[in-house]
Amino acid sequence: MEITGKTKIMFVLADPIDHVRASAVMNAYFASIGDDLAVSPIHVLSGDLGRVVACIRLMRNVFGFGVTIPHKTCVIEHLDEITPTARLIGAVNFVKRTAEGRLVGDNLDARGFIASLAQHDVAVRDRKVLQVGAGGAGRATAFGLAEAGAREITIMNRNGEKARALAAAVAAHYPATKVSAGRADARTFDLIVNTTSLGMKPDDPLPLDIEGVGPGATVSDIIVNPAITRLLARAAAQGARAIGGKPMLDAQMALVARFVAR
Ligand SMILES: NC(=O)c1ccc[n+]([C@@H]2O[C@H](COP(=O)([O-])OP(=O)(O)OC[C@H]3O[C@@H](n4cnc5c(N)ncnc54)[C@H](OP(=O)(O)O)[C@@H]3O)[C@@H](O)[C@H]2O)c1
Repeated sequence: MEITGKTKIMFVLADPIDHVRASAVMNAYFASIGDDLAVSPIHVLSGDLGRVVACIRLMRNVFGFGVTIPHKTCVIEHLDEITPTARLIGAVNFVKRTAEGRLVGDNLDARGFIASLAQHDVAVRDRKVLQVGAGGAGRATAFGLAEAGAREITIMNRNGEKARALAAAVAAHYPATKVSAGRADARTFDLIVNTTSLGMKPDDPLPLDIEGVGPGATVSDIIVNPAITRLLARAAAQGARAIGGKPMLDAQMALVARFVAR
């Protein structure tokens, strides 16, 4: 990759920094579409976030920056504007720097997730969805599913209070969708989504029991690495449709490319 004065520069702000792979994924994606864009991870401690963001405002060849753990929520107070989607989810994962130096935060997880399902011809409208997990990504997918017209969403999470709070927030905003929290029999759902981190390690237990889930159902696991989690392998072996997390990430890259086009 040749970085010149014409290259659009972007960052990914994180702490710790060692685990960050988003910058490599973004660089590979932008190179593959021939976009002259380079992304560097930047190690930023929470206490320095405001000052770092203020400096980025002054960097005229910076087009935006991704934010990840632990900055997804705290970054909001340092921005000029956030999109309605980011406000609903309560977190930002990408910030666009306009030509005037205004910083606009968005959360691309929800749209990336719904776009990945659409790419696989998986309908969400009027479908019954079981979501496991109510963390940062789970908040985004739940709002995304409701926005896409899911008829019913059940949210299961180890911490039940978080699942109930998320269900209440989604229900308040999308009254046409029936949203609840608690355990459920996976066999009665059209779409089952894992948004927990269970499945990243080879010896992780399955995030939920999918025995009996077969043809006619779709199982989505938003984990990117491994590409085929144990849950997905089990779903595919049982004849269900299995969709991994990479297409969700790729769809977000396409959104970033559009977001920073100026
Ligand atoms: N494909 C994509 O584009 C994309 C985008 C964002 C995230 N992700 C992936 O999504 C996953 C979650 O990310 P996140 O940002 O939402 O993380 P997070 O905010 O830390 O949430 C983690 C979720 O996993 C649950 N969990 C963790 N360990 C568990 C265990 N041992 N047993 C049961 N539940 C457990 C948590 O439950 P509690 O609430 O009970 O702790 C919570 O629901 C990660 O694998 C991440 O890489 C993918």
